[in-house]
This record gives sequence, C-alpha cells and structure tokens, in this order.
Amino acid sequence: MELETVMNYLANSINLDGVRAEEIKKSLGADITEELGHATRLGNRIKQLGGMVPGSMKVKLGGQPQPAENTTDVVGVIKAVISAEEAACAQYRKIIKATEGEDYVTQDLCIQLLGAEEQHLVLFQGFLKEYTQ
Ligand SMILES: [Fe+2]
Ligand SMILES: [Fe+2]
Repeated sequence: MELETVMNYLANSINLDGVRAEEIKKSLGADITEELGHATRLGNRIKQLGGMVPGSMKVKLGGQPQPAENTTDVVGVIKAVISAEEAACAQYRKIIKATEGEDYVTQDLCIQLLGAEEQHLVLFQGFLKEYTQ
C-alpha cells in the first residue's frame, strides 16, 4: 500500500497542471519521500520477523484511486489522496489491534505510522475545504 501510494503521489505530483495545482504538487512531492520511508520501515520490520520484502511481480497493486486523466482536476486528486490516507489509517488500526499483546514492536511502528497518516489526512482535508469553497 505504501509503495502504491508512492507511485500515485509521484504521478500526481508530476501530471497536474495549473496555478491551483502548484501547492498540491509540492505537498505530494514531499510526501513521496515520507511514504517511501514508511515502506522502508515496514520492510525492515518484516525482515526482523523472518520475512522477505517482495519484488514487483509479487506485489498486487491497483487498490487505490488512479491518477486523474484530467490534469487540472486538482479536487479529484485531493479526494484520491484523502481516500488513500483513510485506507492507510484503517490498515494501521487493523494491525495495531491484531498485534495487541503479541508484537509490541510492530504495534509501536504502526502507531507511529498511523500518526503520520492522520497528519496527511488532516492536511488534505484542509486542502479540500479550500478548493471546494
Ligand atoms: Fe504512509
Ligand atoms: Fe500518507
């Protein structure tokens, strides 16, 4: 999910056109590094637990809203980001519950990542308010 987010934010940060898109593109550009950092931290934890980080053929992508075809549809992109961040929050909440009493290190990591995703979510909900006024 984190890697899919990187791909979609990368696409949107490059594809969007227009004055209204500039701040969103900047914000998405900064998020790419952060989301890749999440993927890296999760990968390291998977390795610590005896697992392997999969290559591209083993990863199933396509669960997130796709980059807008209309390159000036800034609101569409903001909504897609909100949807991806909500899905990330839901996924981390699920792991936090599943690891309770079992794996505190993974739980702690997911609590930290949930905090980061909630911050992204609030930021883009704020953008949506402004862009739909
Ligand atoms: Fe993330
Ligand atoms: Fe995020």
